Amino acid sequence: MNNRRKKILNELGLTPRWKIRTDSTLETSVLNDNTTGLNELMGDSVDATSENPVYQMSWKQLKLAVSQCTACPLHETRKNTVFGVGDEQADWLFVGEGPGAREDEMGEPFVGQAGKLLDQMLAAIHLKRGDRVYIANIVKCRPPNNRNPAITEVSACRPYLSRQIELISPKLIIALGKVAAENLLGRSDSLGSLRGKIHDLSGTPLIVTYHPAYLLRALPEKAKAWKDLCFAKATMQSLK
Ligand code: URA
Ligand code: SF4
Repeated sequence: MNNRRKKILNELGLTPRWKIRTDSTLETSVLNDNTTGLNELMGDSVDATSENPVYQMSWKQLKLAVSQCTACPLHETRKNTVFGVGDEQADWLFVGEGPGAREDEMGEPFVGQAGKLLDQMLAAIHLKRGDRVYIANIVKCRPPNNRNPAITEVSACRPYLSRQIELISPKLIIALGKVAAENLLGRSDSLGSLRGKIHDLSGTPLIVTYHPAYLLRALPEKAKAWKDLCFAKATMQSLK
């Protein structure tokens, strides 16, 4: 292990006990999660044939549409929309919940404390922001006081994320935390029960792990997040 990697693992609070597993140890159960309640409630907007013009948009049009969006009340309190950032042909798509204060100021996802940890998590599996990696959020505008986005807000914003997913066509999606997992998969099971499995989001494999902001508060869970990242890395390797 080189020094940089050692340093990153130390910063993550991890001993170098975890190794990337080989395919044979992967849990390969592919779950189809798109059948349950929440999706219906939210009006499953992943449908690419939808009449919504968002589904015809180019990157340029989509960015403009988000920057001018007033489709939900979150537009009233935002400083900036936070569209997403990274490689538009990424293999990896990381999806968080929504912008925090720093993201709202900068117009970029995961640039605050949680973002620093996310960058370290990426580095731990030899990834970096923008290089085969795209980072986006469930909602593009900051919920006041960092509250969870309301279902109506998530629903109003969903076509943008769905179109981003279509345009990127990632090999693997990583849902960061309960809000992202719940809203992407349309089920409200505990994060613990969603981890360690390969879910299916309209044909794209999806893996769930903890949100970095949660990990900052719950240090012992970092080892579990590391395990999830190794699982994700091994899954990506098995997809090639
Ligand atoms: N938390 C998120 O879920 N997304 C961000 O962009 C920043 C913090
Ligand atoms: Fe529009 Fe999404 Fe912002 Fe709501 S959160 S105003 S739907 S971009």
